[in-house]
Amino acid sequence: ASTLAAAAQQSGRYFGTAVAANKLSDSTYVGILNREFDMVTAENEMKMDATEPSQGQFSYGNADRIVNQARNQGKRVRGHALAWHSQQPGWMQNMSGTALRNAMLNHVTQVASYYRGKIYAWDVVNEAFADGSSGGRRDSNLQRTGNDWIEAAFRAARAADPGAKLCYNDYNTDNWSHAKTQGVYRMVQDFKSRGVPIDCVGFQAHFNSGNPVPSNYHTTLQNFANLGVDVQITELDIEGSGSTQAQQYQGVVQACLSVTRCTGITVWGIRDTDSWRASGTPLLFDGSGNKKAAYTSVLNVL
Ligand code: XIL
Repeated sequence: ASTLAAAAQQSGRYFGTAVAANKLSDSTYVGILNREFDMVTAENEMKMDATEPSQGQFSYGNADRIVNQARNQGKRVRGHALAWHSQQPGWMQNMSGTALRNAMLNHVTQVASYYRGKIYAWDVVNEAFADGSSGGRRDSNLQRTGNDWIEAAFRAARAADPGAKLCYNDYNTDNWSHAKTQGVYRMVQDFKSRGVPIDCVGFQAHFNSGNPVPSNYHTTLQNFANLGVDVQITELDIEGSGSTQAQQYQGVVQACLSVTRCTGITVWGIRDTDSWRASGTPLLFDGSGNKKAAYTSVLNVL
């Protein structure tokens, strides 16, 4: 195969990218997007602050630009994200208690209903676990509404769009021996045992020298898959360059390929200059849109 999407399709998987609405007028960007990828995630446009800037007033213009562009090109869409402690609209940031719980659930219901039938998988809840050694939940206004806020969000999402896969998504959950990974694992195990609707777990996979690709990545992905969920690499980027970076990308792709229920990989941007990382070169295309060594290593191993 000669593109990432076509290569991933050989094993029934997808290869996606984050897309920013304001780059859809950049012909180099759109050319690579249309050629190489078959799954799209809105980089910011479907987040809570973008879709509900005033309480009860929903705004889908930029999200629709991305969803329509993708679907017109035959690509699927990962929805990102329905509930998150970050990138909340101002009105939500200072809410608490029952009012916040209800506002969150209304948001989940409204946004998932609006996009019903158009989303392959939703990141229903993003980044709800704490870093460090506790293995517990992250403190946030949403967490303070009660520990059951995550399952409540998943139930609301299922009711609103029964056809979408519902994912829990987080970072620093790649290394099987980390407490955060174990904490998320126990939550998914608990959800499955109690019938809380969850279909998939997303691994953001933002790697750099301080947070390298773990050698036990396969183990992590397989152990989650063994709970009866799909797993996906949802926001992949790896700091570095040249053959070192290329090898690390290859390792991540191999870890996914070695797990039957790892259904696809998404990179968090197209060119290095599109990356959310302020400096560095963490993606598969350089600033001019040329394929990097990392691109070739990914294509070859898919
Ligand atoms: C990032 C975007 O790439 C940036 O443009 C924005 O300023 C901040 O958010 N984890 C996530 C993504 O789940 O939504 C984040 O995206 C990166 C970290």
